[in-house]
Amino acid sequence: MLTRNLLDDDPAVATIDDAHHDSAFSTLFLRDLLAALRQPVRSISPKYFYDAEGSALFDRICDLPEYYPTRTEMSILHAHADEIAGRMGPQAELIEFGAGSCTKVRLLLDAMESPARFLPIDISGAHLEAAATGLRADYPGLQVRPVVGDYTRGLSLPAPLRGGGRRVGFFPGSTLGNFAPREALNFLRMAAQLLRGGALVLGVDRVKAPHELHAAYNDAQGVTAAFNLNLLARANRELGADFDVADGFDHSAFYNAPLQRIEMHLVSRRRQTVSVGGERFVFEHGQTLHTENSHKFTTEGLNALARQAGWRPGPVWSDPAGRFGVHWLDAPP
Ligand code: AVJ
Repeated sequence: MLTRNLLDDDPAVATIDDAHHDSAFSTLFLRDLLAALRQPVRSISPKYFYDAEGSALFDRICDLPEYYPTRTEMSILHAHADEIAGRMGPQAELIEFGAGSCTKVRLLLDAMESPARFLPIDISGAHLEAAATGLRADYPGLQVRPVVGDYTRGLSLPAPLRGGGRRVGFFPGSTLGNFAPREALNFLRMAAQLLRGGALVLGVDRVKAPHELHAAYNDAQGVTAAFNLNLLARANRELGADFDVADGFDHSAFYNAPLQRIEMHLVSRRRQTVSVGGERFVFEHGQTLHTENSHKFTTEGLNALARQAGWRPGPVWSDPAGRFGVHWLDAPP
């Protein structure tokens, strides 16, 4: 089955929907990296950050003093868990997109009235199984059924439980911000279909002063730089590429205010040649590989996008400083 990858900027790129195990994903990484390097303006999907090393670096980012989104979203979920759980109702089924280590969902599960089933979706199967085992131990009445898959493509889910309550999606961490606006719209449309009659709890980082955003992606300890550079290290490990990770590239992250997004790039420190998959590529001095966009949202902007995708916006919860928003969206039946 051919599906469009929602994170691909080029709508002509079709991908085979077989990335349900790690070696296939590695093949896609090679294909996408080669495609990026063959362009004069080079850009690759941020989903390739998250191998074991990258996921560990991301966990460290979440604990950095400058990186406010994770702890801010957790504080919002904690403060409003009862109200959010009340909207879900009893016997609800939770579906998390990009579940990772499943820590945030515990804040919701703790407040929900007899949650029936939890379906965490993630591209990393190993991560998911470990997280699922922990959840099963801590929530004995809960069915935990991990779905290994790439939610940036189309997804199919197990049938809703008989006698179950509402189906509620959970998409925290402002991961929606990784999509280009058109792709965010496509994702939200897909999710509205998948969750029809249910709802979505969506966490998004907000537009704010550039210096605050800048600090969050340029931490003093250099963990974000290491996270960015790990993409090249991963290519060396998995694809036998020969990027000079130690000296060849600088981490660059800046706020593009008109496009309301942080952009992350790897900038070549000199003219150099790299070899990937037997092909050689020149990086000019200053030439970049664009590795991530992290879009920021206003409440009105996000609700307008959600409406366009077929959702009915509900309440929005935030922190006292208004840095981050957690949106409730209803999907019509
Ligand atoms: C997981 C995509 C939300 O964009 O803030 C953190 C990833 N990149 N620091 C973000 C990230 C650099 C993060 N998201």
